[in-house]
Amino acid sequence: MQLGGCWRLTVILNMMQMVRMIICVCRGLNTTKVNDAIAAGARSPAQVHRHHDTKINCGKCCEMVCGMIREQTGATNDDRQLVAAE
Ligand code: FES
Repeated sequence: MQLGGCWRLTVILNMMQMVRMIICVCRGLNTTKVNDAIAAGARSPAQVHRHHDTKINCGKCCEMVCGMIREQTGATNDDRQLVAAE
């Protein structure tokens, strides 16, 4: 991920701490649901969806979910590694 992308992702993650936000428009997963899945051990977008008995549709939420996983777990994997692990 480029530096500019990291800056934007950090701003979005900080904003999400103030507001419950929809992360996955296709499946209606908000920040609380994604955080619950991560707390239960999900470490990839597919695992987050699986936790809520849904599947990835368009994939546009994957970057955000990966960022949330990195933020909460301190993982250093980039998005491609997290998605490739699925
Ligand atoms: S926004 Fe999550 S699968 Fe489309």
